[in-house]
Amino acid sequence: MAVIRVRNSGKVVDGQENVHAFLECQGVFFERWDMGKLPENLVEKFDLTDEDKAEILKSFDEDIRSLAERRGYVNWDVIALSEKTPNIEELLKKFEQVHTHTDDEVRIITAGHGIFIVKGDDETGYFNIELEAGDVISVPEHTPHFFTLMDDRQVVAVRLFIDTDGWVAHPYEEKEHTI
Ligand SMILES: [Fe+2]
Repeated sequence: MAVIRVRNSGKVVDGQENVHAFLECQGVFFERWDMGKLPENLVEKFDLTDEDKAEILKSFDEDIRSLAERRGYVNWDVIALSEKTPNIEELLKKFEQVHTHTDDEVRIITAGHGIFIVKGDDETGYFNIELEAGDVISVPEHTPHFFTLMDDRQVVAVRLFIDTDGWVAHPYEEKEHTI
């Protein structure tokens, strides 16, 4: 279950109800999916073949199609990041720049962990959403954010898209001390 850490106050929000309420208040879509559908051999696998990725999409096909219908996504894929990913350091440097998109950015975490750092309302400022398997999140369009890994440095996620153009990252200038 996701945990929220507000970066300027250090406030921690945890527990299903509190996390839902906090994210709803900040306009961030969040829900939990049953990861029991994932084949056992993929629960802790981060170096994925194309067959593995297809298997992950098949396992959640019904849920993905339902989410896509509810929110207008037209295609989806699987991304895996770990120490075995070529150029992982370079990729992370890119991911760690604050940016926005013209569409929302949705991720279903199926293994490992990841953090979205999202700009909240003026009072809240930036907050971390620490995600684990089963967490489904969508950072709203035009909302400054960035992504990084956690201590385990590995994640598998399903990404859904409305339009590939909508996912282009537009750099967002932010004063360093406010992030
Ligand atoms: Fe993004």
